[in-house]
Amino acid sequence: AGFTTLDMSAYKENELVTEKWRGKPIFVLKYTADMLAKLTEQQKARSIMINGEGYLVNLGLCTHLGCIPSYNPDDKSFLCACHGGTYDYTGDVTKAPPPRGLDIPPFKVEGNTLVLG
Ligand code: FES
Repeated sequence: AGFTTLDMSAYKENELVTEKWRGKPIFVLKYTADMLAKLTEQQKARSIMINGEGYLVNLGLCTHLGCIPSYNPDDKSFLCACHGGTYDYTGDVTKAPPPRGLDIPPFKVEGNTLVLG
């Protein structure tokens, strides 16, 4: 109980999927090759690499006051409509008021599987 198992081979590039873990939304976003190639060191540290693919796996709750941000696949960023905070495609904050990037849940990688919890 409390664990969520995700088959990472099931996700499509640049399509945000919202999973559930302990009743909370978990964002999973598989990067395109271009998104992967453009990562800075800081963005890499926020990302999860599995079998040469890169992913955002973050709690889908704004770090300001907990609204659920929406993802725009065209400009590859998140907007929190509550107070206009924005995040890049790795979940790092790019515009206040959020005080930090989206939170990263505890996880383990087992082959092609990600275990949350
Ligand atoms: Fe997201 Fe305020 S709750 S910007």
